[in-house]
Amino acid sequence: MPSLWSACCALLLSLGLCRARPRSALLILADDGGFEIGAYNNSAIVTPHLDALARRSLVFRNAFTSVSSCSPSRASLLTGLPQHQNGMYGLHQDLHHFSSFDKVRSLPLLLRQAGVRTGIIGKKHVGPEAVFPFDFAYTEENGSVLQVGRNITRMKLLVRKFLQTQDEGRPFFLYVAFHDPHRCGHSQPQYGAFCEKFGNGESGMGRIPDWTPQTYDPQDVLVPYFVPDTPAARADLAAQYTTIGRMDQGGRVLGAQQPLPRGWRRDLGLGLCRDPAAPGLGPLCAPEAGCRLGTCSQPQELAWGSPGEAYAELGGGGGQFPLWP
Ligand SMILES: *[C@@H]1O[C@H](CO)[C@@H](O)[C@H](O)[C@H]1NC(C)=O
Ligand SMILES: *[C@@H]1O[C@H](CO)[C@@H](O)[C@H](O)[C@H]1NC(C)=O
Ligand SMILES: *[C@@H]1O[C@H](CO)[C@@H](O)[C@H](O)[C@H]1NC(C)=O
Repeated sequence: MPSLWSACCALLLSLGLCRARPRSALLILADDGGFEIGAYNNSAIVTPHLDALARRSLVFRNAFTSVSSCSPSRASLLTGLPQHQNGMYGLHQDLHHFSSFDKVRSLPLLLRQAGVRTGIIGKKHVGPEAVFPFDFAYTEENGSVLQVGRNITRMKLLVRKFLQTQDEGRPFFLYVAFHDPHRCGHSQPQYGAFCEKFGNGESGMGRIPDWTPQTYDPQDVLVPYFVPDTPAARADLAAQYTTIGRMDQGGRVLGAQQPLPRGWRRDLGLGLCRDPAAPGLGPLCAPEAGCRLGTCSQPQELAWGSPGEAYAELGGGGGQFPLWP
């Protein structure tokens, strides 16, 4: 299938499989992230580590997915196909019950067939297993999503475990999917609307050793034009900013604090993508809200710091995913 191939080829190129020396890739995903990042010109939030990543990246301003919701956007990212081709029209599991078609060949499947070791840490929420297999997996399917997706110390240790069990010279693809800044008031209300209190060291909240919580005054947040400017919305955004800060600090500990195995160089192809459902809005495709993915990625210094004007519709428009301008 040409569309799948063109999407995957860009990623394979970023893994360097088409070059003599194989390179590895780390893909970081945010769950329900919006544009609340310094790199996207939000001046109220403090995200120094994501901003530093963006400075050595190509920042896409026009990357879209055709369904701006959890499992469908993840499935597009991992297959290079739009929902009507990969079958993941809605949420996986529970009563929603959506899955990709059995014949779909996903990125982890193709990479595994090419001899690349694959790993996932954090939220998976796509299926079936045969379509999205990973050699190393710590996800909500066999553990607590709070631990594997929000506890940045636990996530750091899992990344370390993955790297320490990696054969020298064999390329890897590691997909780290944060559960931050997804809402959590419906499932764990004791931790706050966005689980912003989980691990903050207060009584009953536990502690995440690598996290220094940042709190925001609701008066200071930037309320997007499509959200009513009410005290409730501002309180929500302030809590959301705190969880984005946890993910930002996670970005630091996942990378800088990893002792790499002998023979490894820290020249990974890096990607940050956002599962693009703005909080509380559901699948709304307003340009500033739902459907933009805002992908940053670029192993070559060539394009660092330059904005990507390319129209990158993951899985749509013939599966184009032009990482290189
Ligand atoms: C942020 O604003 C600057 C100045 O207006 C602009 O050059 C840049 O492209 C903006 N970044 C994004 C990601 O929109
Ligand atoms: C989750 O699965 C992995 C195998 O992919 C296994 O090594 C790990 O121990 C499992 N974790 C739990 C909590 O069962
Ligand atoms: C986070 O993970 C670390 C390492 O496993 C653990 O010591 C700590 O208690 C965890 N924090 C919470 C809030 O669960």
